[in-house]
Amino acid sequence: MLSAPIGVFDSGYGGLTVLSEIKKRLPQYDYVYLGDNARAPYGNRSFDVVYNFTLEAVKFLFQQGCPLVIIACNTASAKALRSIQQQVLPSLYPNNRVLGVIRPSTEEIGQLTKSKHVGVLGTMGTIQSNSYVIELNKFAPEINVIQHACPMWVPLIENNRHECEAGKMFIEEDVRELMKKDPKIDTIILACTHYPVIKKQIEQLLGPDINVIAQGPIVAEKLADYLLRHHELANRLTSGSNTKFFTTENSIVFDEKATQFLNELVVSEHVEIAI
Ligand code: DGL
Repeated sequence: MLSAPIGVFDSGYGGLTVLSEIKKRLPQYDYVYLGDNARAPYGNRSFDVVYNFTLEAVKFLFQQGCPLVIIACNTASAKALRSIQQQVLPSLYPNNRVLGVIRPSTEEIGQLTKSKHVGVLGTMGTIQSNSYVIELNKFAPEINVIQHACPMWVPLIENNRHECEAGKMFIEEDVRELMKKDPKIDTIILACTHYPVIKKQIEQLLGPDINVIAQGPIVAEKLADYLLRHHELANRLTSGSNTKFFTTENSIVFDEKATQFLNELVVSEHVEIAI
């Protein structure tokens, strides 16, 4: 039987923080992860470029047999998800589904803040898209949303520089900038799937009164719920508990870093996805 895995995509390694939570919650399924590491980071790229790269990635995952793809990247979710859902799927892949990470996160945040002042840390692309402000306004209009872009964080994490002195300085500066904008913030959403890697660093800077939220567990829970409500899709997925990894970069480089991110041995295959 051909496998029908859940596809998980990110510009680089960040989506692995989401994949690991999804696998914990739904260990029975098969998965295919694709990191477009050769073209990461996406954060400072234009709308059109992120859309085209994301579409190439989604098409590749469909070719791998995935009936469902999770865009585990906020930048790509902000800039490409809606167009793919509305313009590409209905005509070309009417039976396939693509989901992102912004909506599930914004559905939950309202219940997590007491002060109703929520900070959003993300890439330049995610913050400039205003997606979190727009989505949060739908689910919890009473919340004050304070955004701050951290353009250095993805490059620091991708290059393993987040724990060196210069890296720590950038992280501290951005966290302080956000809190300076609104000291009433009591909940911060890490609106980039790379950031859970530095969650502890951020928590140490903020102290115990501020709740720092990673998206992985939320996305995993929402996906489990989505599959319960969409039997026709869930029934198409195969349950072999296998995970395949693809990267657009050199696979040896990817394997070393991905193994650290996931805490399990990763053996990937190099792939070209540019059409
Ligand atoms: N993990 C991606 C996100 O969630 C990083 C984007 C980038 O490549 O800059 O936004």
